[in-house]
Amino acid sequence: MDDDLPPLHVFDLPQLYTKPAAAEILLALDRLAVQPRTFGDETSIHSRIDPAGVAQYLTGIISSALSWLDSDELRESIWDAASTRLCERSGRTALPSISRVFKIPMTDSTDFPVTLHEPSLTSDNLGMKTWVSSYLLARRLGKFLLPPLELLLSTYNDVRPLQALELGAGTGLVGIAFASLWGSAASVHLTDLPEIVPNLAHNVSLNHELLLKTGSAVTTGVLDWSIQGQAEPENREKYDIILAADPLYSPDHPRWLVQTIQRWLRPGRESRVVLEMPLRDAYLSQVNELKKRMRRIGLMILADGEETGHDDWESKDGSPLEVRCWWSVWTWEAD
Ligand SMILES: C[S@@+](CC[C@H](N)C(=O)[O-])C[C@H]1O[C@@H](n2cnc3c(N)ncnc32)[C@H](O)[C@@H]1O
Repeated sequence: MDDDLPPLHVFDLPQLYTKPAAAEILLALDRLAVQPRTFGDETSIHSRIDPAGVAQYLTGIISSALSWLDSDELRESIWDAASTRLCERSGRTALPSISRVFKIPMTDSTDFPVTLHEPSLTSDNLGMKTWVSSYLLARRLGKFLLPPLELLLSTYNDVRPLQALELGAGTGLVGIAFASLWGSAASVHLTDLPEIVPNLAHNVSLNHELLLKTGSAVTTGVLDWSIQGQAEPENREKYDIILAADPLYSPDHPRWLVQTIQRWLRPGRESRVVLEMPLRDAYLSQVNELKKRMRRIGLMILADGEETGHDDWESKDGSPLEVRCWWSVWTWEAD
């Protein structure tokens, strides 16, 4: 989007009754593009256009035969672009695939970009989208993880890198940010359900240069919390840190998640579980159940707090929706 351009009204755009050239229509459709929110930047969202009449303008193009244009190829590209613009204005679930860049702060107040691909979203593949609590947690990692983890690092650094596991990684923001912050001092395994892992792996490859520069080792794989009852892993296969953002949205999730943490978290008081999740009314009982279950298996909270973020679902007036989130850092109560 070009901020120097004056705001447009649909009447300023090429009108179909004048039989405009394909290039003119495509340019207009480009100017109607809606940028997705990236949580941290609440301002640069919509194209600079008065929304009145835009949907009608777009449906007009989609339903026109565009008979004055020379080729089917040109007609198809215009219909495609107009449908995409219409989808962008129909809410987050209707959005086609998008790529977003998230800025993650380092401890020295510089930041680094993490680029993520998000395929089109449906209700059964929530891991294709980056959720607000993962953005807040990724930004928080440099702040609150480093002091206690320096201890960990001094314990392990000579022997092996710190091993971190992300559960329900989705698009991978938290794990990729963690890996970039820790560089060669950590190896990070990002996991999710089988249908989510290909995009997760793609996102790791999109950030190849960043990970190479920081010397980070990142792998991806399937880890389904609902599959329980396998043989207990050896302690050396377990993880020093388990990360999870926005992992609870079904009544089974607290039990499955805590069982998975119990299975994969290395024993000892240096180990950490780092969680962040939205405090949405409908899921508060699951958050409380998670806390109870974590305590029942012998984990205790070292630090926790609440913060507010903005989801990329819009409220009716087009402003970003505020979301209260809870972050927490846990360790084993006893060695
Ligand atoms: C709301 S999304 C959060 C994704 C990501 N952490 C974020 O905050 O952007 C929940 C994630 O949990 C994953 N998930 C749900 N059930 C799971 C299970 N049984 N095993 C592993 N992952 C699961 C989903 O696939 C999805 O990626």
